[in-house]
Amino acid sequence: MGRVSGKVALVTGSASGIGRAAALALAQEGATIAALDRSSNIAITVARIQEIGGHAFAIQADLRTEAACAEAVATTVHEYGRLDILVNAAGIFPRYALNETDQAVLDLLFGVNFNGPLFLCKHTIPIMQQQGGGSIINVGSIHGLCGGRELIAYAASKGALLNLTRTLARSYARDHIRVNYLIPGWVLTEGELAIQAQEGHDEAWLRTQGERLPTGRIQLPEDAADAIVFLASDESSQVNASILNTDGGRSFFTIL
Ligand SMILES: NC(=O)c1ccc[n+]([C@@H]2O[C@H](COP(=O)([O-])OP(=O)(O)OC[C@H]3O[C@@H](n4cnc5c(N)ncnc54)[C@H](O)[C@@H]3O)[C@@H](O)[C@H]2O)c1
Repeated sequence: MGRVSGKVALVTGSASGIGRAAALALAQEGATIAALDRSSNIAITVARIQEIGGHAFAIQADLRTEAACAEAVATTVHEYGRLDILVNAAGIFPRYALNETDQAVLDLLFGVNFNGPLFLCKHTIPIMQQQGGGSIINVGSIHGLCGGRELIAYAASKGALLNLTRTLARSYARDHIRVNYLIPGWVLTEGELAIQAQEGHDEAWLRTQGERLPTGRIQLPEDAADAIVFLASDESSQVNASILNTDGGRSFFTIL
């Protein structure tokens, strides 16, 4: 028996990085996966899950509209009959300074990092209520708490996501729906590599930077995925409205 056996999980951003690692880890622990991403690489994740004997299907969609989110939830329930776990891992993190932040930038960052998760929660929660419970994991960022240089819109969208997490956790605790916020640290993913490449940095540079972090290495997608499995499973039945930080202690040491 896996730690999430019998559960159905909708995982966004699962064509890459943290979302992909979460989908694989949840499948390894027995969950059936609805793998959502705008990228066609989502088919690769589904194939990998099937290779390890798991069950998964792909939903290729851009989650920025409510209609796409509603359809993703409806498709999952139609396909698998239930929905127990929602992982909001899709996200984008381009840098824009204050003078570069206009309406289009705000629409883009909030569309992916906040509106999509909100609409997915909106359409998932009534199903979880009918089923008697569920677990929602919102993948946030330390910048959602502390802000970040040239990250005006990103930090604000992740701050809004934290606020949404706590509001929903408070609203639906009696329905046994838990909502938690994961801070993944600094994670070696395709998305992070693409951002760093714009600054002329490669994977070797990232790994060297990681050696200066408290635990001596940069975080890997699997570090976040392990925490996501914990938050998704009944092992965390009393963990709600929480921030779970997997940055190896970096933000705590920096604050102190
Ligand atoms: N990598 C890090 O260091 C780091 C640190 C803190 C927080 N995070 C957060 O973790 C999450 C995952 O980041 P990652 O590093 O794995 O990124 P990634 O770029 O490797 O993966 C993100 C995935 O989201 C998908 N996506 C983006 N926009 C979408 C949309 N509109 N509709 C559907 N899918 C969409 C992409 O196609 C991609 O597959 C993000 O929310 C990010 O903000 C990452």
